[in-house]
Amino acid sequence: MKIIGVTGRMVLDSRGVPTVEATVRCEKGSATAAVPAGTSTGRHEAKELRDGDERWNGQGVKKAVSHVNVEIAHAVQGMDAADQTAVDAKLLELDASKKPGLGANALLAVSVATFLAAARGKRKEPWRLLDEDAKRLPVPMLNLINGGAHARNGLEVQECMVVPLGFDTFSEALRAATETYHALGGILEERNLGTAVGLEGGFSPQIENHHEALDLLVQAIERAKYRPGEQIGLALDVAATELYNEGAYKLTGHTMTAEQLAIEYESLLQQYPLVSVEDPFAEDDWDGWRTTPDRVRTGRIADDLTVTDAKRIERAAGSGATGVIIKPNQNGTLTGANAAVSAARQSGLTVVASHRSGETTDGWIADLAVGWGAEFVKAGAPARGERVAKYNRLLAIEQAFGSQAVYPGPKLLAEGGTDA
Ligand code: PGA
Ligand code: ZN
Repeated sequence: MKIIGVTGRMVLDSRGVPTVEATVRCEKGSATAAVPAGTSTGRHEAKELRDGDERWNGQGVKKAVSHVNVEIAHAVQGMDAADQTAVDAKLLELDASKKPGLGANALLAVSVATFLAAARGKRKEPWRLLDEDAKRLPVPMLNLINGGAHARNGLEVQECMVVPLGFDTFSEALRAATETYHALGGILEERNLGTAVGLEGGFSPQIENHHEALDLLVQAIERAKYRPGEQIGLALDVAATELYNEGAYKLTGHTMTAEQLAIEYESLLQQYPLVSVEDPFAEDDWDGWRTTPDRVRTGRIADDLTVTDAKRIERAAGSGATGVIIKPNQNGTLTGANAAVSAARQSGLTVVASHRSGETTDGWIADLAVGWGAEFVKAGAPARGERVAKYNRLLAIEQAFGSQAVYPGPKLLAEGGTDA
C-alpha cells in the first residue's frame, strides 16, 4: 500500500466556490477525495487556506493545491497508505512547520484520499477500515427548510429538520422524509411562499420565523400521511453564534439574554416534537450552554462549540451537551476526527456525522458515519446531487448489510430521541 504519488487540484463545491481535491496513488490502488466547506464556520475550526487575492473573490485555493502537489506529495511519498495515523501525523508536522500552515483543506483532501486508497488496496468497503463488524445505519436528519446564512429569506434559524425515527429500516425512513419534502413543496406552492432552495437543498420560503417553519414541517408530515413525533420528529440547528453579538442574542426582532433564549426553546419544546436542538448558544457561551439541561429537555447537539476537537468535546459533555456534530474538515485530519468520535463516546455523547453547506458529490462521509457507528447523519435535504450522494451511499451500504442491517431509529425514539 506504498504511496507512489499525490496530486492536488482545484474543483468547485456546490456553492460554486473553489475547494481542494486530492488523488493518492498507491501501488495497489488509488483514490480521490474532495473537501467540503462551511458557510457559518466556527471560530475554533481548523483553518482552511484561501488565497485572499482578486481571483474568486479571495476564495481561491491555488496555494492549498500547491501545498498538496509540492510539500505534501514529497513528504508522504513512500509511506504506507494503510498507516493512517502515520500519514496524518506527517501532515500535521508539515502544517506546523509552515506559517500560516498548509491549510486544513489541503490536509483533509490527502488524509481522506489516503483512507479511501487504503480501502481500495485492501479490496474493502471504506467503512470496514473503521469497524469491520459495523451493521448500523445512522438516522438521517434532513434539512427541509433553510434559513440563516444558508438562505436569502427572513428566517434566522439556520436549519429546520425532519428526523424519521419511527421506521424499521433506513430506506423506509428516507422514503418517509422524502415524501414529506415533496409534500412541503406542494404546501409552499399553494401558499405562494416560494419553492426556491437554500444551500443544503431545503426550501427557503418567504416566512418570518422558526415557528412558521416548524408549523410547515408538521403540516407536511401530516400531508405525507405520517405521524409527527411518533414517526417523524423535528430538529433545529439554531447556529446561535450567528445571532450573537456582544453578550446578547438577537432573534425575531428581540434582543435576548441566554436565559431568555433558553426560555424560548423551552416553550418550543412544549409546542413541537423536537428531538434535538443544535447550537442553541454561541460557540464560546459556555455559561449559556450550562443552563440547557434545565430548560432544553431534548437532545442538545454541539457543533460550533466543539468543532470536532476532542478537548472541546470533553468540556461540552460537562456543560450540558448530549451529542456532538462530527465534521472532518473542522479538524483537518481523519485521525483527528476519529479521536473526536472517541472523545464523544467516552463522554457518553451521541455522534452526528455531518456534511457542510458547501459540499461535493463525494459520499465518504456516509462511510465514516457507518464506520463510527454514528447514531445520526446530517446531509441536507433529499434533493441536489451533493446531498443525495450521501443518502444514496447509505442505501448501498444498507443493501450490502442485507438482513443484518440495524436501523436504530425506534430504539432512539424510545430512549428520548437524541437525548443520550
Ligand atoms: P456550515 O453549516 O457547513 O455552513 O457550517 C452546517 C452546520 O452549521 O451544521
Ligand atoms: Zn451546525
